[in-house]
Amino acid sequence: MKILVVGGGGREHVLCWKLKQSPRVSKIYCAPGNAGIAGVAECVNIEVSDIKGLVDFALRQKTDLTVVGPEDPLNRGLVDAMEEQGLRVFGPRASAAALEGSKALAKGIMAKYGIPTASYASFESLSEAEEHIRQLKSPCVVKADGLAAGKGVIVAMTEEEALGAVRQIMGQRAFGSAGDRVVVEEMLIGEELSVLAFTDGETVIPMMPAQDHKQVYDGDRGPNTGGMGAYAPAPVCTGEIYSFVLEKVLYPVVKAMAAEGRPYKGVIYAGMMITDQGPKVLEFNTRFGDPEAQPVLMMLKTDLVDIMESVIDGRLKEIKVEWQKGSSVCVVMASGGYPGEYTKGMEIHGLEDVPQGVTVFHSGTALKDGKTVTSGGRVLGVTAAGEDIPTAIAMAYRGVKAISFEGMQYRRDIGQKAVGRGRCRLRKGDTPL
Ligand code: AMP
Ligand code: GLY
Repeated sequence: MKILVVGGGGREHVLCWKLKQSPRVSKIYCAPGNAGIAGVAECVNIEVSDIKGLVDFALRQKTDLTVVGPEDPLNRGLVDAMEEQGLRVFGPRASAAALEGSKALAKGIMAKYGIPTASYASFESLSEAEEHIRQLKSPCVVKADGLAAGKGVIVAMTEEEALGAVRQIMGQRAFGSAGDRVVVEEMLIGEELSVLAFTDGETVIPMMPAQDHKQVYDGDRGPNTGGMGAYAPAPVCTGEIYSFVLEKVLYPVVKAMAAEGRPYKGVIYAGMMITDQGPKVLEFNTRFGDPEAQPVLMMLKTDLVDIMESVIDGRLKEIKVEWQKGSSVCVVMASGGYPGEYTKGMEIHGLEDVPQGVTVFHSGTALKDGKTVTSGGRVLGVTAAGEDIPTAIAMAYRGVKAISFEGMQYRRDIGQKAVGRGRCRLRKGDTPL
């Protein structure tokens, strides 16, 4: 089989790595890929937003399957455009990808179908949003409605911050048309949990629950990022919470999308906050998480091609998805200054010195004069599996220690919330994951 993977980050690197393990796969292309992906796939220089270029490439190469990594091409209708040409493609169509592409739409669906989430209001006028914030008198979260490369969410502790955020989004249009509307939400307090699932629109098969680390600094301090590290399984996800997320969030949202005329196929990702009032949805993503995909897919035993084909063909119920025992951890190494301004082009040293058992997934890297250099905010996802979480953490950080580049930053506490919580046990009587 020939496969095209669309994207060029750590998520796409682990997708290529996992797909390559399938005996059914003979060739993987990745558009545009990166320096690390070049080791497992043939990188082709087509941007993820170039829908026509991607469709033409898949037709020319007669690819048997396309796997779409990021949200942007999903929202631009890449899946629809490929399907129109009779190509096989894994991911939701644009009408379903709007669940991530419009936060107002997602909140509306959650309200209509009783899916637990923060209370909210949405606005198309700056003055009305300002007025609402002045009346709130409590911390809130301001979100640009559309896609903003993970930067459109501002957790505002004070009224001034919240007013500044809506002015930035709607007044200065910091995220362009993504800020035509804003959502102002109740702030939820608790621990975050990412539950991803495969779905063919009827059957939903959840993956190993994972935990991301959003804030840039240790102890969850500093501004939010795309994610500074992740691990799986997350023992904060007890059997009770797992059942709740399945029964009150994932099954209902897949059903709701069908009822709304937006049938959903692909990966659905519920970003949850575990509050004192129970788990509530922070957001839905319509794709694998990055960096969650790295530890989660490292633990997947089942052939990913088989799963993806059964999703496309609507026969996911026939598939048994199996997971390795133990835990895995991914530590993100980022450029100095990220998530703000940062410099690119720093040479990365030590990639060949990481100990055996550690896999380095590349995010923002490029090849320059035969050297691997930084080319993005998040640069590498150093990932390892072990029999338990402390072993996996120790292994991943041994990998991190071997690598260096100027200005690098990484969190030292990835996975620490899981340590001491014991093993993740999802159902009574289950063997712990
Ligand atoms: P989103 O893209 O909507 O998931 O938001 C990105 C991040 O912002 C989340 O992972 C949380 O860390 C934070 N966040 C979003 N919504 C809320 C909320 N209602 N309360 C507290 N934190 C939030
Ligand atoms: N790690 C969060 C995301 O992929 O959106």
